[in-house]
Amino acid sequence: MMCLAVLVSGSGSNMQSIVDSTKVGILRGVAKVVLVISNNPDAYALERAKNENIKVICFKREKYDDEESFNDVILTELQIAKVDIICLAGYTRMLGQKIIKTYPRRILNIHPSLLPKFGGKGMYGHYVHEAVVEAKETKSGATVHFVEEEYDTGKSIIQREIKICNADTSQDVAQKVLSIEHQIYPEAIKKVIEEHS
Ligand code: GRF
Repeated sequence: MMCLAVLVSGSGSNMQSIVDSTKVGILRGVAKVVLVISNNPDAYALERAKNENIKVICFKREKYDDEESFNDVILTELQIAKVDIICLAGYTRMLGQKIIKTYPRRILNIHPSLLPKFGGKGMYGHYVHEAVVEAKETKSGATVHFVEEEYDTGKSIIQREIKICNADTSQDVAQKVLSIEHQIYPEAIKKVIEEHS
């Protein structure tokens, strides 16, 4: 059984889809979520995790002198919980180098576009979908990829498309992409687990 940590900052709908898949979906008997970490005490994801009886820890960056000490406490908690795979699911901070080096090919992120399109610094949340609509794209989608030192540059694990109609607003695109995200994140985790077993 692989132990997963999910790092969140917001609503946590991807975290929920991962948890659900460990209970009744493709990760059942394969993986369990042992830890949820948030940098935002108001994240709805924390409520969701508590409802699932998952250990939750919240670290506010402002309470630490620098990025390194902030990431050190996160790394310590990951190690205490004996985490095998780290899933970033709407986590708004960059992970420290030490964490990235400790978990090679074991840190995943989900991005709401067909990377490398609409990726990189500043491309997150509604900005991505607005840029997609602005560019008159006929398709968008979601990508689960490995985390490396730069934003959104790690090797893609799974990418899936959605079609965009002429009348779609950026909110419509966001909704379509999110439902795809909920499918592909558990699938990508399964693929990575198979790679490591
Ligand atoms: C998702 O769109 C994901 O692609 C991005 O942040 C959003 C998180 O949504 N990285 P949620 O918190 O999982 O609902």
